[in-house]
Amino acid sequence: MQPDTRTRPLQERDITLLWALRSPCSFGCPHCYFGELADDKIGPPKEVGLLSHIPVRDVERAELEAFARTLADSPVERVVLAGGEPLDWLPTLSVIKTIKEAGCEVVIATNGVPLTRPGIARTLVELGIDGVSVSLDSADAAVNDRLRPSRSGRAGHREVLAGIRTLLDERGQGPGPRVGIYTVVIRARPQEITNVARLAAEIGVDYYVPQPISLPPGHKLFTERCHTAADAPAVEQELLRLEQDPGGLTLPGPTYVRQFLDSIATQDSGRVERCFGGAQLFFVQPDGTVWDCPSDRRIAATPPSARRTIVGADAKTLFDGRPACTDCSHFSRDCVNMTPLVLGMPSFLGRVGS
Ligand SMILES: C[S@@+](CC[C@H](N)C(=O)[O-])C[C@H]1O[C@@H](n2cnc3c(N)ncnc32)[C@H](O)[C@@H]1O
Repeated sequence: MQPDTRTRPLQERDITLLWALRSPCSFGCPHCYFGELADDKIGPPKEVGLLSHIPVRDVERAELEAFARTLADSPVERVVLAGGEPLDWLPTLSVIKTIKEAGCEVVIATNGVPLTRPGIARTLVELGIDGVSVSLDSADAAVNDRLRPSRSGRAGHREVLAGIRTLLDERGQGPGPRVGIYTVVIRARPQEITNVARLAAEIGVDYYVPQPISLPPGHKLFTERCHTAADAPAVEQELLRLEQDPGGLTLPGPTYVRQFLDSIATQDSGRVERCFGGAQLFFVQPDGTVWDCPSDRRIAATPPSARRTIVGADAKTLFDGRPACTDCSHFSRDCVNMTPLVLGMPSFLGRVGS
């Protein structure tokens, strides 16, 4: 099938912008897309597209606020703020206000600990933020804190749960935000898929996303953590158990289980017909670079002529001429991690029946 190269009418508002706002994070997860601080001691990686927790190239606040203002009157429907840790940088609250005023939905991806700080959860509720996705990789505190260690050693599972509870309390009977948990699933612990779901349901969380760990083959944790085809049956069993008994949680759509299993069965790239990357999804790095999606394979295949930036740009012009969909030959675990952001979010946020 040929890609649909017709461009979208400008007035259609259907883009999800995944915006990694800042580089630093108080957690030092060894599997993180941003790499480990210790590895970047001599400076952030020089390769285009590679991320680092060292913020030397992060866009100035005034520049990113200027871009955020241009989201009004643009085809961007939803902005998912991530990083790094977006809530460790106080101006993020002002950026959220600007994006809301531009008429976009705002979802924030956080390690959860900032939600325990005085006033943060309350302010998010007051700003009308639409969704808060909190990362938690195990229902077991010790396991989670080994997989997701804070750099100070002083925050972990307990604080993450306290942060979620603070936010749910602040929301009270109000309409929002919807609150979700994201779990990175590793090959040794398929049981976390249903264990974390049970915990999420007990706490009163609204949506839940188990996602496959995605690491390049050269990564030091690749063999230990990344699934192979042999791991698929155990993962399938857990995903199907979750689907049969979601415990009131909203889950990613019906095709998610198959997509998850397809992705972990191989390291080869596959073809994605009618891909939303570069059509309804774009990724902005902390240095302002705009990509079709965060897939390392797709970034590596992007010609220099196609690189763009939010610095000095306006969103209407930036996304003018985007196609209705793209034809991508880089299917990988990264695609699975993007599907809930684009296709799952309307039901996570209660915009459609789940
Ligand atoms: C990079 S974090 C940034 C937002 C925030 N600091 C947090 O901890 O959620 C965004 C999400 O990416 C996930 N993630 C990081 N590295 C990953 C990897 N190699 N494979 C799959 N997911 C990953 C994290 O667990 C988290 O849910």
